[in-house]
Amino acid sequence: MTKAFVDGQWLAPKSGDQFSVSDPATGNEITLLSDCGIHETEMAIDAAHNAFPAWSRKSPYERSNFLSKIADLLTKNADKIAPIITLENGKPYKEAFGEVLYSASYFKWFAEEAVRIYGDTIPTRSASSKATATKHPIGVCAAITPWNFPLAMLARKAGAALAAGCTLVAKPAEDTPLSALTLAKIFEEADLTNGVFNVLPASSPVEIGKVLTTHPKIKKVSFTGSTDVGRILYTQSAPSLKKLSLELGGNAPFIVFESADIDLAVKGLMQAKFRNAGQTCICANRIFVHKNVRDKFVSKLSEKVSKLKVGNGFSEETMIGPLINSAAMKKVSSLLEDAVSKNANIITGGQKSPAGDLFFSPTIISNLNSDMEIAREEIFGPIIPIFEFDAEQEATIAANATDYGLAAYIYTEQLSQAWRVSDALEFGMVGINETQISDAAAPFGGINQSGFGREGSKYGLDDYLEIKYRLFGNLR
Ligand code: SIN
Repeated sequence: MTKAFVDGQWLAPKSGDQFSVSDPATGNEITLLSDCGIHETEMAIDAAHNAFPAWSRKSPYERSNFLSKIADLLTKNADKIAPIITLENGKPYKEAFGEVLYSASYFKWFAEEAVRIYGDTIPTRSASSKATATKHPIGVCAAITPWNFPLAMLARKAGAALAAGCTLVAKPAEDTPLSALTLAKIFEEADLTNGVFNVLPASSPVEIGKVLTTHPKIKKVSFTGSTDVGRILYTQSAPSLKKLSLELGGNAPFIVFESADIDLAVKGLMQAKFRNAGQTCICANRIFVHKNVRDKFVSKLSEKVSKLKVGNGFSEETMIGPLINSAAMKKVSSLLEDAVSKNANIITGGQKSPAGDLFFSPTIISNLNSDMEIAREEIFGPIIPIFEFDAEQEATIAANATDYGLAAYIYTEQLSQAWRVSDALEFGMVGINETQISDAAAPFGGINQSGFGREGSKYGLDDYLEIKYRLFGNLR
């Protein structure tokens, strides 16, 4: 598993180049991997293109059976795959194990949906006509996946693409390519037709991204990552008019209203904020608490946050692993420094953790204002910024004061308030008294600068399908 997976074979690049993958918890090298470039990317695209006719013409039941097999293999091997995720990403083993099952749930869901790709018959104006709308796979797709859920984000794309009848070329993040190669191994074990699923490890995403977004044989690109990179991929894809799904950055508000069940809200925030050390796109990023419950909320929250154990993901006690790399550490530290230099108040944490170079202590800060970078930017680290509000409208306006629009959360015991505020929030997903919003059955995705397209759910499958309208005229 140190090579690329192209056309059903483990392939070493023509250049012989390799790159190093390291454990963020220790800085130690895990392994050297084949470093793919333009040549291997073109080979993978050709393989996926050649495999498309046979794969897309398989019966949906055959594709469904195959995807079920993948789900079963992932589940059966979860204890062997989870350590690979912890090793390359750093997240606690329990979370990594959960990620394997979460990944399996996408294959299972899309196995079940593969046999439900219905179309329509459309009533016509003429009695001698019949019209239909049928759904067809879009063709060869590219998946460019992030390091924060190195298995699940690929599973979410591959499950949908393959169920629809598409073939796929995947480019995993350079920090975490081993989980994607492990998935390729699972596909190999399941006897997948060659070329249907290809994985290209590479140290330089730029070169490969350029080929994937410009190649005429690629019909769709699905990307999860930063808004800045999403814009580049969007621009590059424009001349060939590729279909795109962009799941980009978030800046999720988390609003605690006066009526909220405070214990429930604290529990929800702990889950939303500290999953993967705060490195999720749907992470609660700006916490707005009603002034009358602010002290109670912060006191209960601080008690829980101060008990979080930071450390190596393989230690059973660990709840917070490392940040992914030194650039992430620099960003998180600089957001905090900027806030503190503008008079933010540190309630707990506030510094690097002694656990190692890439570990950051879970932190709560208050006394914030909109001049601070932390009030505007996606933190992607274990920092909770607390803002205070008085009126409902004030909270809604502040929550919407961002260019992003991925996830938002509200805690209230008032039904009408829950409905009113969730209606007013300009986000693709809203959790009400709940932060665990992700599910294979749910449409995951954002609006505005958080991108477009949906993943998971029946809508996620539609993103890999084209509609063909047929009119049968002059029927006798
Ligand atoms: C993300 O936020 O990066 C993905 C999280 C998920 O699928 O739950």
